Amino acid sequence: MKPVVGFIGLGIMGEGMLGNIIEKGGYRTVIYNRSAEKCAPFAEKGATVASSPAQVVKEADVTVLMLANSDAVQWVLGGKDGALSGISSGKTLIDMGTNTPEFNEKVKDLVEERGGDYLEAPVLGSKVPAKEGTLTILVGGKEEKFEEYRELFGTMGKAIFYMGEVGKASQMKLIINQIMVGMLALFSEGLVAGERSGISAQKMLEVVKNSVLNCPLFSIKGPNMIISHDFSPHFPLKHAQKDLRQALSRGDKLAVPMPVTAAANSLYIMARDMGLGDEDFSAVIKTLMRGDGEVHIDI
Ligand SMILES: NC(=O)c1ccc[n+]([C@@H]2O[C@H](COP(=O)([O-])OP(=O)(O)OC[C@H]3O[C@@H](n4cnc5c(N)ncnc54)[C@H](OP(=O)(O)O)[C@@H]3O)[C@@H](O)[C@H]2O)c1
Repeated sequence: MKPVVGFIGLGIMGEGMLGNIIEKGGYRTVIYNRSAEKCAPFAEKGATVASSPAQVVKEADVTVLMLANSDAVQWVLGGKDGALSGISSGKTLIDMGTNTPEFNEKVKDLVEERGGDYLEAPVLGSKVPAKEGTLTILVGGKEEKFEEYRELFGTMGKAIFYMGEVGKASQMKLIINQIMVGMLALFSEGLVAGERSGISAQKMLEVVKNSVLNCPLFSIKGPNMIISHDFSPHFPLKHAQKDLRQALSRGDKLAVPMPVTAAANSLYIMARDMGLGDEDFSAVIKTLMRGDGEVHIDI
């Protein structure tokens, strides 16, 4: 029999992922979100709306978390009505957000102390792959639990990797984001320098596409950054900065110098403090623009 799936965290990613669990997977679901109004469209599709995280875990066999950051996870887990209070033998908690290996190891211990099972399963891909069910999913934890929930992961993702013990998947996820977010900072510098030199945006993107820099990140984000100036959030900038911060803390722990990541992090901190945290992470380019947010050409 199919497990009952709990889902907590209906943000940019969670909405698409839950949609696929219900529509593609046909699972019975119990859901909770801090801002309750986001549950309504899923209630219409048959999801049971719980009044607390604890109720989700009590009614579900397996509960997925897709929350903003570790503060949000702690808020959802803790307290009298928190998810942890519903954990007992036979219950599984799967955290699919991006946190550090250290944080996930602590949550795993808290879940196991109560007799439950824990998997970390951070994802690669943004709003569109979440909606289309084509995420890449990295899973850490007991292999038999991974196998038990492989079908559930399959409703949300097209490529699913078992990475080993808890900590390995979150480390791999941080590596991907460290590189991706850092690349966009460097891309921004190049694009602004190009425009200010009088090279047209269109031409620059065409040249990039026909060079070794041709990659989905640049071809998806480039036109939004310098042609349409569309910074509607797919991956919010505040989360990108969080991931650089987490990558740097891992660098410190592992004694890996990360001067390039540190420089990119400074730019994203600046962007966040300019009020761009809720825009897409490509809005980092605005830190390099002048005044009205447009790139000016001085010729
Ligand atoms: N967006 C992406 O492209 C992407 C890609 C891969 C991984 N991720 C990671 O996936 C996670 C979710 O990302 P997202 O883009 O979906 O984030 P998001 O749109 O900001 O949604 C965050 C979710 O967390 C909840 N939340 C935030 N603070 C909370 C708190 N203090 N207590 C309880 N709930 C809280 C929000 O509830 P409300 O609705 O009440 O605000 C919402 O449900 C993050 O760890 C992110 O780094 C994101």
